[in-house]
Amino acid sequence: MNINEILERLGLHAKNKGISTGTEWLSSSGKDSYESYSPVNGKLIGSVETATKNDYEKVILKAKETSLYWRKIPAPLRGALIREYGEVLRQYKDDLGALVSYEMGKSLQEGRGEAQEMIDICEFCTGLSRQLHGLTMHSERPEHRMYEQWHPLGVVGIISAFNFPVAVWAWNFTIATICGNTTIWKPSEKTPLTALACFNLLSKVLKKNKIPEGLCNLIIGSVENVGIPLVDDRRVDLVSATGSTRMGKIVATRVAARLGKSLLELGGNNALIVSEHANIKLAIPALVFGAVGTCGQRCTSTRRALIHETHFETVKNALLKAYKSLSIGSPLDEKNHVGPLIDKDAVNSMQEALKKIKQEGGEIIYGGEPLDNEGGCYVRPALVVLKKTIPMMKEETFVPILYLIPYSGSVEEAIQLQNDVDQGLSSALFSNNFIETETFLSHWGSDCGIANINIGTSGAEIGGAFGGEKDTGGGRESGSDAWKSYMRRQTNTLNFGDSLPLAQGVHFDL
Ligand code: UN1
Repeated sequence: MNINEILERLGLHAKNKGISTGTEWLSSSGKDSYESYSPVNGKLIGSVETATKNDYEKVILKAKETSLYWRKIPAPLRGALIREYGEVLRQYKDDLGALVSYEMGKSLQEGRGEAQEMIDICEFCTGLSRQLHGLTMHSERPEHRMYEQWHPLGVVGIISAFNFPVAVWAWNFTIATICGNTTIWKPSEKTPLTALACFNLLSKVLKKNKIPEGLCNLIIGSVENVGIPLVDDRRVDLVSATGSTRMGKIVATRVAARLGKSLLELGGNNALIVSEHANIKLAIPALVFGAVGTCGQRCTSTRRALIHETHFETVKNALLKAYKSLSIGSPLDEKNHVGPLIDKDAVNSMQEALKKIKQEGGEIIYGGEPLDNEGGCYVRPALVVLKKTIPMMKEETFVPILYLIPYSGSVEEAIQLQNDVDQGLSSALFSNNFIETETFLSHWGSDCGIANINIGTSGAEIGGAFGGEKDTGGGRESGSDAWKSYMRRQTNTLNFGDSLPLAQGVHFDL
């Protein structure tokens, strides 16, 4: 694979502008830039100019102005634009997937999967643009009609994380756009080039359709110059943020202070339960992919395996065998299962986490050590046996550490253990027992936004609503009726009679 050719096809250079109004790239009014180094080999990929507060102001003015135009465009026509973007993405899927892999470090398979997730959401949104429907109610008053409509919000701010550098933006941007909003995207400073590539492809579609500047905006910049101004700005009608719980709490509090809307998709601490009735053959690959996929950096990564004592030794040994067979190395080489962590800080924080785990009584039975591959960001995924609850297992480490925890009682005991953390994103039960699976899915079962049976915790399809409860932030993105968060609901009551009856039978005679 020739990465320079890929960069060229995606319109990326050694030095790049980092502010786009969709159709135009703007120069920064400041002098700072980010340099993006690949975690794959430590090499510089390119640099990107970063925005100042003044640049942010320019962008929000355009976004606001264009929102007045875009909200009047019929939703199915908005959907047609997204369909075209999906077609362009289809043509560039392999290039974009490879760049995701090179800049972020996930395996090529997963990089391509991420580009596919973008294509899928474009298709979903094309249909959805004809289905932004409200309900009709019966009015209690004669010759009255009552119904509800969904209207665009205006401007949607999108803050995304490094681990899904393009797909999470796509879920937000496509839905926000068909709902009649304009968007401003602030990607992670760790993955600016994938964002630029998405906008180079997008600008082709916007230009062809003569869309004015400001429909889709991208602004690369710091928390101080872009993040905080966006979050505090009353002109931003919805802030959709993906990232850590720490970041989410700051966003939520600041947005709430101006009574704005936020949509949060934050940390997870996802458990997979292997019950006494589990098909172990299915559970093992699900555990391994869940724990080491994206090098443990998905918010849906499996962090805790809760294993019935009857299977504990079998599962432990099977995992040891599987972990020993993992090939770790450049994610661009398709035979490797595990690529690097995002940067050296992440490698260090994994070492810190393992030290604490040991101090608290965890037994590291495999892996954990940094590897001396080029670039310095590779680690061996770790397996840790926990015979008792330790404080560290309640934290989201965001590295490939899988805790193996035995339980002895009923599935309800395992569910209680699973739910006993602050996060509530994804969960899975492996069992072929109807009573166990129904208990897990009941309202006294898993407390997570995602609850799966005989499927791992990660790798959700775009068709469902994605997100979770508690410290995960409560937001839902992507499929189902998640679009409702990007619109405002209006209740309409119409009188087509010639009297003015009041609701609740109230009389007011003049
Ligand atoms: C994330 O990690 O922020 O379900 C998103 C999954 C992916 C999305 C993860 N489809 O693992």
